Amino acid sequence: TRFHALIPAAGVGARLGATLPKQYLPLAGKPMLLHALQAFVDSPQIDRIHLVVSAADGYVDEALSAEPELQGRVNVLRCGGETRKASVLNGLRTIAGETRVNDWILVHDAARPGLTPQLVSKLIDAVADSPVGGLLALPVVDTLKAADANGSAERTVPRAGLWAAQTPQMFRHGLLLRALEAAGEITDDASAIEALGLRPLLIEGSPRNFKVTLPHDIALAELYLKGQA
Ligand code: CTP
Ligand code: MG
Repeated sequence: TRFHALIPAAGVGARLGATLPKQYLPLAGKPMLLHALQAFVDSPQIDRIHLVVSAADGYVDEALSAEPELQGRVNVLRCGGETRKASVLNGLRTIAGETRVNDWILVHDAARPGLTPQLVSKLIDAVADSPVGGLLALPVVDTLKAADANGSAERTVPRAGLWAAQTPQMFRHGLLLRALEAAGEITDDASAIEALGLRPLLIEGSPRNFKVTLPHDIALAELYLKGQA
């Protein structure tokens, strides 16, 4: 079995609201998505790296051409879809010809530049013997409130046993394809696996692997990337 990274990078970054899709914003000297790509390039267990962008993407070639060595390792797929799920699904279908059903696919958000090779190998080492797969995640630290229709706190949700999902999320190609084809609206890949009645392993990730979503996330991401946080 081989290990593939599949990186959905076909979003528009509406919540961040910049003039270009957030995955191309400069962070610590290079476009955001190059950081996550580099983590996979630096992971010896990873055989193939696939990047899913939208068909109309006008940024990816320039972003990659700044780093020829990295560019040579990345398989750019211009098959992004309307949703994250569609982008991942299109990517899985596009690579089906060069993938075995039992190959592992590590799906990772382009908007998580804080990924490290250490986190990648931690996930692979913990999950590679699992029949199901698994994901990086962090135990929830906040006290959680369930709101009523008026936006008042109706009750407190016990946080014991609750985890916030990160990526990479690692599943075998055949299982993930089948799960996503059957899934409704979801915001991560593990949900589709859970919907089949299977239980992905939760592997502790890292705060630095957070998803850049809102404008104020940029400054924190830079601190982590520069080793100042
Ligand atoms: N993504 C994708 N295709 C989509 C939507 C999202 O490949 N149609 C990717 C994003 O590029 C990102 C990851 O999925 O790397 C996580 O999605 P998110 O953080 O929601 O990014 P955006 O959808 O771009 O942001 P927003 O929801 O604020 O518009
Ligand atoms: Mg989105």
